[in-house]
Amino acid sequence: MKTTLLSSAFALALVVSGGAFAADGNVQAGAKLASDVCSKCHGDKGVSPSPLFPNLAGQKAGYIENELHLFRDRGRGDPHARAYMWGIAGPMTDAQISDVAAYFAAQTPVHGSPASDTALAEKGKAIFEKGVEARQIPACAACHGKNAEGNDTIPRLAGQYKDYLVTQMLEFRGLLRDNETMHENTAHMTDDDARAVAEFLSSK
Ligand code: HEC
Ligand code: HEC
Repeated sequence: MKTTLLSSAFALALVVSGGAFAADGNVQAGAKLASDVCSKCHGDKGVSPSPLFPNLAGQKAGYIENELHLFRDRGRGDPHARAYMWGIAGPMTDAQISDVAAYFAAQTPVHGSPASDTALAEKGKAIFEKGVEARQIPACAACHGKNAEGNDTIPRLAGQYKDYLVTQMLEFRGLLRDNETMHENTAHMTDDDARAVAEFLSSK
């Protein structure tokens, strides 16, 4: 009980002080860049207007930062990364990357709308929480968190667009998007598994 109280007080302190210094970046500087450059596609506060563009609101700063470095260094080369994000991240400095990551991480995350196919969402929930041992699919929650909230360089998936999530899983499986861990995690997933997990996550 004592630890719980202490850690929630600590978490609260972080939230309260989070205004200017979420992660290492400067939220105010990040807000300016976000509004000048990113808002057209990702929305002013990271809630994007189309499933082509992932929501960034409440995404982990470490993950946003890591992906921007990967786009800049051309380490994430799936078709939409090349078409949209290579050009944007190319001229960004390390400081701009940290600032904009801090800004989007500090925005209120999107909560999804109820699943349109509840049976599919239930199947996705089971995969997310427990994996499918017989088919070597790991429990996604082990890394992405019990509530799909993410952790450092592991992305938040909760409330993300369904179509975006499906595309990413299939691109990892097809080795179109780099990342060895996710290549292994998706290797044995069927299209239907990917749709089920996305149906569940986009409703969270
Ligand atoms: C012209 C549209 C456009 C603009 C402007 C844009 N983005 Fe993107 N962004 C995209 C698209 C499309 C993707 C998805 C790429 C993919 O499918 O791999 C993306 C993906 C990302 C991702 C990866 C998110 C994830 O969940 O993996 C990050 C981080 C990101 N953008 C940050 C930014 C930042 C910061 C800016 C402003 C400096 C910005 N973007 C400006 C179109 C845009
Ligand atoms: C061992 C840890 C681990 C496990 C288990 C794991 N992931 Fe991941 N996942 C990652 C990491 C790390 C990334 C970021 C890869 C990168 O930087 O491009 C990621 C990225 C993703 C993304 C891309 C999100 C975005 O915003 O672009 C999706 C979708 C995803 N994982 C789904 C899953 C699903 C579904 C499962 C379960 C079947 C799963 N992951 C299991 C570590 C894991």
